[in-house]
Amino acid sequence: MNATITVLPGDGIGPEVMVEALKVLKAVAAAGGHRFAFHEAPIGGNAIDVYGTALPDETLRQARAGDAVLLAAVGGPKWDDPAAKVRPEQGLLKIRKELGLFANIRPVKVTPFLAQSSPLRPEIVEGTDIVVIRELTGGLYFGPRKEGGEADAEPAAVPAALKARFPKSRYAYDTELYFEAEVERVVRLAAEMARARRKKLTSVDKANVLATGRLWRQVASRVMREEFPDIEVEHILVDAAAMHLIRRPTTFDVMVTSNMFGDILTDEASQIAGSMGLLPSASLGAPGTPGLYEPIHGSAPDIAGRGIANPLAMILSAAMMLRHSLGLAGEAAAVERAVAAVLAAGYRTPDLARPGETTVTTAGMGDAVVAALQPQVAGSWEH
Ligand code: NAD
Ligand code: IPM
Ligand code: MN
Repeated sequence: MNATITVLPGDGIGPEVMVEALKVLKAVAAAGGHRFAFHEAPIGGNAIDVYGTALPDETLRQARAGDAVLLAAVGGPKWDDPAAKVRPEQGLLKIRKELGLFANIRPVKVTPFLAQSSPLRPEIVEGTDIVVIRELTGGLYFGPRKEGGEADAEPAAVPAALKARFPKSRYAYDTELYFEAEVERVVRLAAEMARARRKKLTSVDKANVLATGRLWRQVASRVMREEFPDIEVEHILVDAAAMHLIRRPTTFDVMVTSNMFGDILTDEASQIAGSMGLLPSASLGAPGTPGLYEPIHGSAPDIAGRGIANPLAMILSAAMMLRHSLGLAGEAAAVERAVAAVLAAGYRTPDLARPGETTVTTAGMGDAVVAALQPQVAGSWEH
């Protein structure tokens, strides 16, 4: 098949892990007779440096025009001044919003030979196979806010009596805002995914405190009762969810939650799998719009430039792209098998290594995945 892929390497370890994902995609294309055109574009801190904005219009135009977007990570200390007007992360939030990518799918799966890499006991994590669906274009990330120095968009939003509590004190606020339709579509997508898996859905909210949490729970309950009576549903509060996730990770199948809670819970969940460097994601919107594929980790400034970042989350994100946007499920499975094979063979970047284990570089890991892919190429992708 022919596909146009928008490639956004970003900042920090972003370009380092992207190179490895492209290696793997080129090997997949060569073996299967596919033609992938890779169009690289700026986003994040590097885009700010050159264009003064984290998401240049041309990058967005290319993203819309292509079949899928592959993104590594943005951000870093150079752009971290809280007083700055433009920030790398704005680029990420804007591209998600502009493409309407309301569902972020974050699989958390423990590879048997990696159970030892988790800070949790192997008997707790072994067998974990969760898909977290994070709502991605609403909630606290996109609600009305006031930031220091800016004119108050809604002067009445903070009552005078409240302001009087800390007179002359600067203040800021963010608002969690959810529409019923937003909750409904993401819960429906999660339930459909659960239906194709082990038929269990866990909805996570803060219904005991937040109005949005109560709306979330009402809507999730209704959608499940009316449309998915065959799916077992569990509603849990986010604080308890954070605890249950590491106490009984194998009992979860599909989890669905808000933008903010999903962000936090999946960084926590990365430790079940063993490392931030392992978790991929797919951000999907309405059918026909390009999906965006990115690891859940950031630009890891603490290890950038040293060639030691784990590229597997990026490579597995590319596999999700093959499956969800390009219709190449066999190829996606082959990449996932190759990743499992290199881990079984003992390849470890430093984030996965236990004391005394030898490690490979970012490029070494990418090369190993490509090599593991080769033997399957001659035959069919399908098994
Ligand atoms: P981070 O995910 O970049 O790093 C957290 C920790 O995990 C670090 O110790 C890092 O070394 C490690 N880590 C992350 N990815 C790794 C990999 N592939 N291999 C090995 N180790 C890895 O989070 P942070 O330090 O809180 O944020 C750094 C910057 O990244 C910030 O500017 C933040 O806004 C940005 N960020 C971007 C994205 C994104 O672009 N999708 C996601 C998260 C954070
Ligand atoms: C993620 C990141 C982003 C988020 C930041 C960098 C805007 O943490 O993709 O998980 O919070 O969504
Ligand atoms: Mn995050």
